[in-house]
Amino acid sequence: MTQTTHDAGELFSGKPSGTTILGYSEPSIYTPKIDPLYAFHESSRDVIVWFLMEKADPLYIYGPSGCGKSSQIRQIAARLNYPVFEATGHDRLEFPDLVGHLSVKDGNMEFQDGPLTVAMKQGGIFLFNEADLCSPSTLAGLNTILDGSPLCIAENGGELVEPNPMFRFIVTANSNGASDDTGLYQGVMRQNIAFMDRFIVVEVGYPKTEVEVNLLQQKFPQIPTDILGKMVDFANDVRKNFMGNSTAHDALEVTLSTRTLIRWAELTMAFQPLSKQGISPVMYALDRSLGFRASQTSRVALAEMAKRIFNDISMN
Ligand SMILES: Nc1ncnc2c1ncn2[C@@H]1O[C@H](COP(=O)(O)OP(=O)(O)OP(=O)(O)O)[C@@H](O)[C@H]1O
Ligand SMILES: [Mg+2]
Repeated sequence: MTQTTHDAGELFSGKPSGTTILGYSEPSIYTPKIDPLYAFHESSRDVIVWFLMEKADPLYIYGPSGCGKSSQIRQIAARLNYPVFEATGHDRLEFPDLVGHLSVKDGNMEFQDGPLTVAMKQGGIFLFNEADLCSPSTLAGLNTILDGSPLCIAENGGELVEPNPMFRFIVTANSNGASDDTGLYQGVMRQNIAFMDRFIVVEVGYPKTEVEVNLLQQKFPQIPTDILGKMVDFANDVRKNFMGNSTAHDALEVTLSTRTLIRWAELTMAFQPLSKQGISPVMYALDRSLGFRASQTSRVALAEMAKRIFNDISMN
């Protein structure tokens, strides 16, 4: 893979900016595919600036579920032709899941590199999703790599893996490592502060209303803009009332992510034929994308919020 520089402005907004960003000249088989409709918005700014830094501490991105943390990295990587090697955290994850392990090949024991090792060797991005679901002691094992030191693989005869200069380490998580205040992100663990201290921490949120409406318009041109606008207004109302942001007694235990918004619009299209039977596809799709996941009290609250926002629109 040949390293090259790209014009950052041209890649992310279509207008040349003269600011260069390192990447590769060709995609590899591990480079994610470009989603041409992907909306880079204000939340992406800090992440893009981090990519502009040729030498930067590892990046820790946190924010609510479905706001675009992982996809943003994949889409930046896609445009820079960066290979991405991913792992997902869970409470039983162990170091060999990241570094690699011995396995049998043609009757012989052979060491199989894990995603972290491959990323370090090839100069790729190691994207560690939901890392805060891991035990803090497992993650503390990564401290020396986070400092930029080589990885020593004892299981493979003490192989020493020097980090390729293009290697990048990125964590995405729902918490900032200090545990989850809402209690809704089940399984999140408080992380060791020495581990957290090694990262540049970036908070990512949902896109602004106009960005989300525009995204939906591009993806679902068949749905009238006023309906898409109301769907985003509704999503913003739900986000405001989500327990993580609200102390109101009627706070909701569900939130409406960009992921759910896209699913809601997809289902609205799929259930369009129901309108002939006098059933609103938008409301029907809302239950199937969000409502059925909510508690009984939240469902009543969601229905009332929906009535307030959608009452002047004919849904058929
Ligand atoms: N800005 C955006 N433009 C286009 N699609 C988006 C955007 N943000 C999110 N999406 C879509 O929403 C879905 C969820 O995004 P993503 O997986 O990045 O969320 P996440 O923040 O990593 O969530 P989680 O915390 O649950 O892992 C993806 O299918 C993604 O393509
Ligand atoms: Mg994710």
